[in-house]
Amino acid sequence: MCSPPIATSSTKQKPLPLGALCKAVAISGVTLLFFYIFLFDKSSVNYQLPSNLFKTLEESFPAATSPLRSSPPTNLRHIVFGIVGSMNTWKAKRPYIEVWWRSNVTRGYLFLDRAPTPEFLPWPSSSPPFRVNEDFTRLKGYPQVRKLVQVRIVRTILETFREGDKDVRWYVMADDDTVLLVDNLVEVLEKYDHEKYHYIGMNSECVKSNFDFSFNMAFGGAGYALSYPLMAAVATKLDGCIERYPYIWVSDFMLQSCLADLGVALTQEKGFHQIDLHGDISGLLSSHPESPFLSLHHLDTINPIFPSMNRSESINHLMKSAKVDHSRLLQQTICYHRPSNWSFSISWGYSAHIYETIIPRSILRRPLETFRPWVHNARAPLYMFNTRWPSNNPCEAPHVFFFESIYQNNTIEGRQIVTTTYSRASQRGLPPCSSSGNHSADFISKIQVQSLPAKRLEARGIDCCDIVYEPDINTAQVIYRACMDGEIIA
Ligand SMILES: *[C@@H]1O[C@H](CO)[C@@H](O)[C@H](O)[C@H]1NC(C)=O
Ligand SMILES: *[C@@H]1O[C@H](CO)[C@@H](O)[C@H](O)[C@H]1NC(C)=O
Ligand SMILES: *[C@@H]1O[C@H](CO)[C@@H](O)[C@H](O)[C@H]1NC(C)=O
Ligand SMILES: *[C@@H]1O[C@H](CO)[C@@H](O)[C@H](O)[C@H]1NC(C)=O
Ligand SMILES: *[C@@H]1O[C@H](CO)[C@@H](O)[C@H](O)[C@H]1NC(C)=O
Repeated sequence: MCSPPIATSSTKQKPLPLGALCKAVAISGVTLLFFYIFLFDKSSVNYQLPSNLFKTLEESFPAATSPLRSSPPTNLRHIVFGIVGSMNTWKAKRPYIEVWWRSNVTRGYLFLDRAPTPEFLPWPSSSPPFRVNEDFTRLKGYPQVRKLVQVRIVRTILETFREGDKDVRWYVMADDDTVLLVDNLVEVLEKYDHEKYHYIGMNSECVKSNFDFSFNMAFGGAGYALSYPLMAAVATKLDGCIERYPYIWVSDFMLQSCLADLGVALTQEKGFHQIDLHGDISGLLSSHPESPFLSLHHLDTINPIFPSMNRSESINHLMKSAKVDHSRLLQQTICYHRPSNWSFSISWGYSAHIYETIIPRSILRRPLETFRPWVHNARAPLYMFNTRWPSNNPCEAPHVFFFESIYQNNTIEGRQIVTTTYSRASQRGLPPCSSSGNHSADFISKIQVQSLPAKRLEARGIDCCDIVYEPDINTAQVIYRACMDGEIIA
């Protein structure tokens, strides 16, 4: 394939043989086109481009990003959630749903493979109302279907739509082991025009998972959003897609194929997390992309995200900071204490790291590879992002602290100051980084971070911080503030 970048660079730099070849092919293509038009023109066929072609195109494709300001801002009531569950796993997954579901506020349904057994009745109001998936064995394509459970999952989309909820702008689909950050979802979805077709989600962290299906597929465990008109369109097409692609054995890929046939591509939002990973994901959560944190999936295949707690406790704990300042949750802020040559990296509401040397932001923004890939024998490159290797070099290994508590105080000017405290996970067990002046951080046991509520990530921009720390005191204070011009570069 001759890609445009090669052809372009070959005009500027030393021409590469491949570039030259591309150019030659491109030129012959253009020649062919002229030739074709010339011939066509000379022929007796009465052919004319409609004079209003470009106008028509503009009218039918208005700028997709133009926000719809005539309607009130999107709120949580505009979203309907469709959650895929199953009776066998419900008991174990229930805590992951109830941590984000808000009775009488969030709208939506939990779809089950069969009716709840008496032990789960009466159905609690703290859980989403349940529905039982339709029997689809009368579907025309049914005998060819390769994996029945996946058809049940993908059909949950149209069954959610058929509930007929009113005043819906977005449908968000997720699994029963997905934790959603609903306030951040509202914040993100509000950027898009809900009256147009939108398919918003994220692919997997693992290259192999994307390679096996599609790099342009939203992974359903991470959750994804469909605008109302797209949902309405796909609901009429889905059974046809199942018939067309009976061999597709993964529901998310079925949907992606169906949407691609409708001409709809995925819009990526980096805050959705499929977590096709194993082990300790603290490295990833400590260098989260600069984007609102939207979801976390596969909680049962990873270690608890706080090492001193079990899985459901961990999620409940993280939600304590989400409640106070959801926009800031997991947003990474980096600052330096020059007298000690220390770098601080805070993932707000989750973790804090101290490095005993000055490490540039460009490096600290890469996740520490504390986790393992989803597939055991996968070959490099494993991940869709760059990582850093955990190291035993005392100048590279961080002192690790995890979120402990949060409180808000009114200051004299009436502004709310949020204080989060992070406590040391364990002793680092390494000598000091002496090349940096032998300033050990071993005796720091807590880090206190002060911030103002972020409100909205975009309005806030990037934060910087100052470190208030007296040698021999075991608590370091970090105070967030706006960055000064040019301060971003370490
Ligand atoms: C939700 O609303 C129902 C009916 O109005 C009420 O019985 C129930 O207690 C409410 N649940 C919560 C958690 O507020
Ligand atoms: C997790 O810990 C909490 C609190 O200690 C406890 O109530 C809960 O049963 C534990 N969950 C599991 C799955 O062990
Ligand atoms: C802020 O609130 C916390 C907990 O409510 C309290 O312990 C602390 O003394 C307060 N600080 C100030 C400066 O008021
Ligand atoms: C900080 O580290 C540099 C080397 O990276 C060293 O030259 C300098 O003396 C150190 N400063 C202090 C205050 O220790
Ligand atoms: C660091 O300084 C302490 C005294 O402050 C000294 O005991 C220790 O040996 C030094 N370590 C290194 C690696 O230089």
